[in-house]
Amino acid sequence: MFETRISRRAALMGAGAVAAWAASPARALLQATERVKAPAFVGDLIARMTLEEKAGQLSLMASAWGGTSAASLNPPSNGDFPRQLDEARRGLLTGVFNGNGARMHRMLQTAAVKESRMKIPLIFGADIIHGHRTIFPVPLAEVASFEPDLARRTAEMAAFEAAGTGIDWNFAPMVDVARDQRWGRGVEGGGEDVLLNELFAIARVKGFQGRDLKSDAHMLATAKHFAAYGAAEAGLDYNTVDVSERTLREVYLPPFKAAFDAGALSVMASFNELSGIPSTGNPWLMTQLLRGEWGFEGFVVSDYTGDEEMIAHGFAKDAREATRLAFLAGVDMSMQSGFYRTHLPDLVRSGEVPQARVDESVRRVLAMKAMLGLFEDPFRRIDERREQRRSMTRPALSLAREAGRKSIVLLKNEGDLLPLPRSGKRIALIGPFAAGQHDLIGPWCVYGDDAKAVDLATGVREAIADKSSIIVAEGSGIEEPLAGGIEAAVAAARQADIVVLAIGESQNMSGEAQSRTEIVVPRPQQQLAEAVAAVGKPMVVVLKNGRALALEGAVANASAILVTWFLGTETGHSIADVLFGAYSPSGRLPVSFPRESGQQPYYYSHKPTGRPNPEGKLEAYKARFRGLTNTALYPFGHGLTYGKIGYSDLALSSRSMAMAGGEIAVTARVGNTGTRAAEEVVQLYIRDRAASITRPVRLLKAFRKVTLAPGSSEVVRFVLRPADLAFVGLQNKPVVEPGTFDVWIAPSAEADGLHATFELTA
Ligand code: BGC
Repeated sequence: MFETRISRRAALMGAGAVAAWAASPARALLQATERVKAPAFVGDLIARMTLEEKAGQLSLMASAWGGTSAASLNPPSNGDFPRQLDEARRGLLTGVFNGNGARMHRMLQTAAVKESRMKIPLIFGADIIHGHRTIFPVPLAEVASFEPDLARRTAEMAAFEAAGTGIDWNFAPMVDVARDQRWGRGVEGGGEDVLLNELFAIARVKGFQGRDLKSDAHMLATAKHFAAYGAAEAGLDYNTVDVSERTLREVYLPPFKAAFDAGALSVMASFNELSGIPSTGNPWLMTQLLRGEWGFEGFVVSDYTGDEEMIAHGFAKDAREATRLAFLAGVDMSMQSGFYRTHLPDLVRSGEVPQARVDESVRRVLAMKAMLGLFEDPFRRIDERREQRRSMTRPALSLAREAGRKSIVLLKNEGDLLPLPRSGKRIALIGPFAAGQHDLIGPWCVYGDDAKAVDLATGVREAIADKSSIIVAEGSGIEEPLAGGIEAAVAAARQADIVVLAIGESQNMSGEAQSRTEIVVPRPQQQLAEAVAAVGKPMVVVLKNGRALALEGAVANASAILVTWFLGTETGHSIADVLFGAYSPSGRLPVSFPRESGQQPYYYSHKPTGRPNPEGKLEAYKARFRGLTNTALYPFGHGLTYGKIGYSDLALSSRSMAMAGGEIAVTARVGNTGTRAAEEVVQLYIRDRAASITRPVRLLKAFRKVTLAPGSSEVVRFVLRPADLAFVGLQNKPVVEPGTFDVWIAPSAEADGLHATFELTA
């Protein structure tokens, strides 16, 4: 009934190519999607609702309480919250987000279910990106664990805390593949690789939602931001995206599909335009692909004022047109602009928007409220005592510590400087992140509190025998020099046997709207590093970062480098566990650390070009920069342990695989000849030598984390099937083509590793 209205724009997107996405290894993990059924009473409700009430069910607003973290605050004295209560009574709200805890949720819910005409419960949303009050590592850090089940566990714990305060619906996981490290929001996602993004999307959806959406310890998950938000030109947040439909289907869409197949029943439209059409107004994306091709049954919410922003995009001439375009494209719910409740009723009355379409969106939203159990008990998640009881429990903190240490990546460790001894050495702990409860929890924590987190100095003091053997010197501000800071830091380094230099980005240097042109350690801290390194003591760099960094000078040359991101509440404990050897680092880079900022966007699975530059060389008229090979300083997948890891005995069960039903087992032995236990992430990459569409130089297809006691080894076995070799072909549909394939089992995307070839035969 509305197809005629969207056909012009749909045609612009070349929408003819619709196809089921091929089976991938991630798919194998999925259980059947929970089906959405609107209970019969929903139809009766819709039949009795006014147009204004229907538009209200499609309008979501930020909490007007003000402030965010304190649950027990009294209602604010300004008029905003009473006004919001009144909106709930008048049925003009479907719910609010980023509210202030159980008390606030109870007041609003009471207004809705006791005092409104239709008595429809509100839904409470929030951004629980990596923890509610117990803050876990930022999502990108957690992906470095290469352990999706860890993300499932932290997501489940976050849901337990958050749902305890009345939150029904989470605006996470972010599943945007991010290949340009200038973009600040890479910190919220799964890094540069498609498979990792898929696996962590699935894990997080399962953790947030659990098995039963009615559970008062779980919440609805939202895959965001649909779509290709991470492909912003120049890494500039909100910027234009122009990628081919093939790249969209090959790189940016699969994590969304994985999230939906795992059961995510809400999706958020992205701010960006895609090939000239803002996502919020894109019927091909929001309806044809999402519902037609993929059969998505949940509901679509705009991002914060995403519909309104189509005016600034130059796509809608005014608020009324923006409402019509967003709604008819398939965005069921408007966040924060208020456009739907202001304009939808009139658009229906004028015949520009079919009433049946509004009913359909309302049905989706009410079906979800029913699935969350809100009609049965609107207060099922709202409980002031439980809110306290579930907050920052011992198991949550211990999980945060475990997740923190598993997220840390050891980039280098010359002369086995790490782990450090717990006694007998004086340690200078230098840098703006050495001490102090700042920049611990990361950029996107609505309810987290740095003041409840453990800083590095505290963690280190707890780990060592003689507390007085630590000298702390700030050395520098984060982006500004500190008067006398370098002198004091140099003096501290002189007195010490070992320097631990804690430097990097503040938490507000990544996240939304925090794009950087130079992805380096800020200059004043680089100067501090140079001065301290000149003292000549063995130096461990502890990096704080929300993205891959281009390391330079004394930082790159330090004996040991640990990537510690933003680890959350247990930061100091997690880092100390690794520094002093209570835990042997097992993290691997989910993003490539380039040699220089100007290589961005740099990602390991790039295409070969017609003029590949030979490895380790700089040849004329080859794809390289002046004076610089286009390779990573530390590639995707890289990370060391405290063991001595070696790979050998690569074997393929066959050198050929039939396209119909064939398979090849790929095995290799991985051993630890060191004296300390280690966990190694064994990675399998492939390359398709020649195909009808050019293929990446390497592509991760599988990985396994194995624990290796000193002196032990293990044979790791992977199975490749034709579906693993599929790609998005000429017709934008998955294809498998015969030919020669390279396979590597390697410790990173750019390490030589063990190599073989095989044939895929017709
Ligand atoms: C972000 C979303 C977030 C929303 C609500 C927006 O600015 O892009 O990721 O969920 O705000 O807080």
